[in-house]
Amino acid sequence: MAKTIQAIRGMNDCLPTQSPLWQKVENTVKNVISAYGYSEVRMPIVEMTHLFSRAIGEVTDVVEKEMYTFADRNGDSLTLRPEGTAGCVRSGIQNGLIYNQEQRLWYMGPMFRHERPQKGRYRQFHQCGVEVFGLNGPDIDAELIMMTARMWRELGISDYVRLELNSIGSLEARANYRTALIEFFEQHQEVLDDDAKRRMYTNPLRVLDTKNPDIQAILGDAPKLSEYLDEDSRQHFAGLCELLESAGIEYTVNERLVRGLDYYNRTVFEWITDSLGAQGTVCGGGRYDGLVEQLGGKPAPAVGFAMGLERLVLMVETLGLTKVRQSVDAYVVTAGEGTMMAGMKLAEFLREAVPGLRVMNHCGGGNFKKQFKRADKVGAAVALVLGENEVAEGTVVYKDLAGGEQETIAQADIVDKIKGLV
Ligand code: HAM
Repeated sequence: MAKTIQAIRGMNDCLPTQSPLWQKVENTVKNVISAYGYSEVRMPIVEMTHLFSRAIGEVTDVVEKEMYTFADRNGDSLTLRPEGTAGCVRSGIQNGLIYNQEQRLWYMGPMFRHERPQKGRYRQFHQCGVEVFGLNGPDIDAELIMMTARMWRELGISDYVRLELNSIGSLEARANYRTALIEFFEQHQEVLDDDAKRRMYTNPLRVLDTKNPDIQAILGDAPKLSEYLDEDSRQHFAGLCELLESAGIEYTVNERLVRGLDYYNRTVFEWITDSLGAQGTVCGGGRYDGLVEQLGGKPAPAVGFAMGLERLVLMVETLGLTKVRQSVDAYVVTAGEGTMMAGMKLAEFLREAVPGLRVMNHCGGGNFKKQFKRADKVGAAVALVLGENEVAEGTVVYKDLAGGEQETIAQADIVDKIKGLV
């Protein structure tokens, strides 16, 4: 026998048993986004490599060590998208969606990062992202956070996530802060590890994110970003905090929150959970007012976020809070001359009469026992049984597969009976 071929490490199949939960999570977030009037955009999965290195930043984990980059047959360097913001901005500029306009967009799909796989962290993962262009004020930042809070409510996970918020100020404020941080790290060289030593000049803010306890211990004395914030950013942040308070959304300000991608300014935020172990960030985002210009467009303010669908699915699954509908509601079982086609016709009739009902016809023959076994296997709630007598009389046997009761009813009455399953 030939050797079987395995999927790539960190890239998973979504199996039939898992897809109902995935659909539930995807549909819930899509419905919430559409309740705010946002439009979907679909970008390619592969882009030119320099789009990502320019947008995300050369000295970031994503660009330095996590991108799936390869040479196209004509020698171009291409990369599987590690995130959606860069491609969304590229698309917006290229298609004239951003200049002088306001856009509220969303996307959903696979992203790729060569990270070490573990629970909640994969090499192919899925994000749902939202990006808004052309709006400056804290009102839109607040709307995005309110939208995410609504998603958690609809998914039943509100009690298990918390919001952390920070302002990282203008580019200029960050440049001043950077200088102060470099001076601080220069005075503490002896504590720094190789990674921190390398980063302290190229991206000192990232050293704040270190996992090294020795470095963490000195960070309490490091200069604080809030001391370097420009007045406009300060006011913007105060405006956002006020809006969130009046919307009843709890948050904590985390001064260390800087995010792992370089394009942010002003507002940054993350929704974090303790129920997933190490990979606790379910959603992250913020403002990136400089990126459109940096990628060649006319300057335009922008803000957005993305959430990891695997992490949301895991949460909903582990917390066991959401009832997931199986793929099949009613299973049509037939036996006898001419009953198979009568069953197919009954199913077609029901699909039309009861929108959203999922009806499966038994195919492949076999006795009742075999057919009922199939009905159980696919998770159907009821079986609709047609024998020669039922076909002749225009009736059907309606059997509740969970409770076991069954009754014979006129086919004309079945619609009323079955509506409740949707
Ligand atoms: P990010 O923080 O890199 O931000 O990713 C957003 C979310 O994607 C994370 O919070 C996490 O839930 C999920 N995620 C990231 N990497 C993995 C992985 N390897 N496996 C599973 N899930 C993962 C961004 O990507 C920005 N583009 C967000 C944004 C949009 N900012 C503004 N607009």
